[in-house]
Amino acid sequence: MTNSDATSKTFQKLPRHVAIIMDGNGRWAERRGLKRVEGHRHGAETAREVSEECTRLGIERLTLYAFSLENWKRPRAEVTTLMKLLKKFLKEKRAEMKEENIRFSAIGRLHMLPADTRRELDKTIGSTEDNDGLNLCLALSYGGRAEVVDAARALAQKAVRGEIDPETIDEEMFSRELYQPGVDPDLMIRTAGEMRLSNFLLWQASYSEFYVTEKCWPEFTTEEFHKALEAYDRRIRKFGGLKTGSP
Ligand code: FPP
Repeated sequence: MTNSDATSKTFQKLPRHVAIIMDGNGRWAERRGLKRVEGHRHGAETAREVSEECTRLGIERLTLYAFSLENWKRPRAEVTTLMKLLKKFLKEKRAEMKEENIRFSAIGRLHMLPADTRRELDKTIGSTEDNDGLNLCLALSYGGRAEVVDAARALAQKAVRGEIDPETIDEEMFSRELYQPGVDPDLMIRTAGEMRLSNFLLWQASYSEFYVTEKCWPEFTTEEFHKALEAYDRRIRKFGGLKTGSP
């Protein structure tokens, strides 16, 4: 597909919220005889390209799984490199995000991030908070189970303070305690072939449509993104009910 084909692409039904498990940076690099960090570097560039395409198509929200709670168990050198890369990404892209009307946010146990990375994160969130275009959210130091535990703890504390009656807790009240309430992904993409959710958005992905590609994240081009959107376009969503119009 040429570039002009890629930009003229239209879809009947677009997801409002796309979530992506950006996997395969390491494998992509190792297959080329490169260091794993090179895979992460290229991966950061892919993240920029995919977010640009979301803006172009008018997708409202993009959530990227950039660093899981489990990723803290990786060798120290790789964790340090990922944190440096994240800091660099935030510093370099901040002006661009402002200009492209991107509203930037982050979810996860952010207090665990190094202070300098956290500072860049807060600066980027602050400087894009008045934007009303694509909501670009990075999941950092994020775990789906941890998010549910954090929400349960917050509700328990409210109950202890007498602010809520535990009997009144329902799904709506629970989801208001999540890191970013009310934004379930319509489409969940995973690169590099694995058929797993890997502790990402466990609560929110209940009815997300899944798309898995063999392509590693650094080779997930705009054309590959369009394939995922085309697959979504063909899906019939029933949310446990029946297709509209079924007899
Ligand atoms: C998975 O590849 C990817 C990660 C653990 C981190 C994702 C990080 C980036 C894409 C770079 C930073 C992104 C931004 C937006 C700043 P892997 O290392 O698990 O790959 P493997 O399974 O092939 O080893």
